Amino acid sequence: MLDKLFFRKKSHEQKWDINDNIPSHVAIIMDGNGRWAKKRAMPRIAGHHEGMKTVKKIVKEANQIGIKVLTLYAFSTENWKRPREEVDFLMKLPGEFLSTFLPDLIKENVQVRIMGKKELLPIHTIKAVDQAIHKTSENTGMILNFALNYGSRDEITEAVRAIASEIKSGTIDPSQINESTIERYLMTSELRDPDLLIRTSGEIRLSNFMLWQLAYSEFWFTDVLWPDFSEDHLRQAVSEYAQRGRRYGGLK
Ligand code: FPP
Repeated sequence: MLDKLFFRKKSHEQKWDINDNIPSHVAIIMDGNGRWAKKRAMPRIAGHHEGMKTVKKIVKEANQIGIKVLTLYAFSTENWKRPREEVDFLMKLPGEFLSTFLPDLIKENVQVRIMGKKELLPIHTIKAVDQAIHKTSENTGMILNFALNYGSRDEITEAVRAIASEIKSGTIDPSQINESTIERYLMTSELRDPDLLIRTSGEIRLSNFMLWQLAYSEFWFTDVLWPDFSEDHLRQAVSEYAQRGRRYGGLK
């Protein structure tokens, strides 16, 4: 067990202790499923299916490391533009994932949550996630937060709309609005901001993901495609995070 808390950085043969500085909230943009499949002359959906298996591995590992919140970008508000067959497949994945993995999540004290416009998801997807949310609601361990039909601009737009209504009804005076007001209206109101953002597949962009919440997060990018992302890659990201000096615009 103790050995698992260390990661050997191969290039320098140096051991890093990640015990003291584990990121509390890790957010992941799981990218590269399509390319993974293409490299094997398989249909894109095969890459998503393999990506779902990676989700299982990484959830377990994150929980073991002691991460408190794991947010996974599973479907964006822009992903509806993909071919119908691919969208339908992606919408079935939460159900498949949970039908096989929910007992493990319950046993491991994981709480399932979702953020995004849930009401626009197909009914079978809503049912699967609602059941998981309900069955894990008494759990007190790691929060597994799926971003499903999530878009950060949409989230911020909704927050602005809600705050404007409060102003209109006289509940809030514009002079009272500060950063905490806005945070209260975001889909992450109950979560702290991510400490670490991971994006796989070599793309270096945010793709409309947690634009407000990632303001001071540490970023970690890898060329590894999501289906190939392993427990060791997660530990590498966490280890490197542990070495970063976060200053939030101030001085050390
Ligand atoms: C981006 O890769 C990935 C997605 C849009 C979907 C991510 C979904 C999963 C990893 C499975 C989710 C599992 C559960 C349990 C909900 P891409 O298709 O854009 O890859 P590409 O850039 O190589 O084409």
